[in-house]
Amino acid sequence: MASIPQKYTCWTKHYRSLESTNKEAHTLLSSKDIAIPAVIIADEQTKGRGREGRQWVSPKGNLYISLIVSPCVKDAYLPQLSFVAALALRKTIAPLLKEGISCEYKWPNDMLVEGKKIAGILLERGKDLADNKPVVIVGIGLNVLHHPQLEEVRAITHLYAHLAKKRGGAEKLNALSTSLCEHFFAYMKQWEDEGFVRIQEEWMSHATGIGTSIKVRLANQEHSGIFKGLSPKGACILTLPNGQEVHMTAGDVFFTDTPQGE
Ligand code: BTN
Repeated sequence: MASIPQKYTCWTKHYRSLESTNKEAHTLLSSKDIAIPAVIIADEQTKGRGREGRQWVSPKGNLYISLIVSPCVKDAYLPQLSFVAALALRKTIAPLLKEGISCEYKWPNDMLVEGKKIAGILLERGKDLADNKPVVIVGIGLNVLHHPQLEEVRAITHLYAHLAKKRGGAEKLNALSTSLCEHFFAYMKQWEDEGFVRIQEEWMSHATGIGTSIKVRLANQEHSGIFKGLSPKGACILTLPNGQEVHMTAGDVFFTDTPQGE
């Protein structure tokens, strides 16, 4: 057992090594061996899952966490949880950064520090067999001590490269997971009580690329246009060259205004 959120105490399990914290969440849900809300943490993952079926390289030294929740909102709103998680991530890491270092959201699920990917969020649907309620597994990977070299993501970084003050590794990871959980449950409550508007506004105020040219790549199509912001449903609003406005609900974003194309 490890870090339990101080204000939002909940069922927590900490493993040395797992294939994936998200996968473990599904396993525990099917065996009904879990109490929701729950937190699963692993020191390393051997088959970490990324978005779009990609791998999330997960050696020791970084944060791998899944929060399992069953929010009191309509099913259609559940994808908004990835923005709730993004806000919690930023609240956790931004205060630790050296002055002047940027910390921004990249639609749909990424966190950037100095324009480089530092964290990703993967939402998966699960089922609470004990209660027969729909649940969401919010998987968060944060590069803390180091970052992998990946061909598909050229601009990538880790927290320790940008810290204002350096502290001990394990202690730091525990402190980070506790802080992340506290912020996540606080934002989730705000979202359940008030809806998405304040979450949407806060996300927009620290999002990268608003007003610039972007390309959004979906499974079988691509759209280029000006990124107008986040819709009330969490979609990316794009103005196409012909003036048409489209709302994209999933995809990978590439900034076409920047030389590195990330
Ligand atoms: C992305 O592709 O950007 C999302 C990465 C999400 C990785 C996290 S690490 C904890 C959780 N368990 C997994 O297997 N994946 C998520």
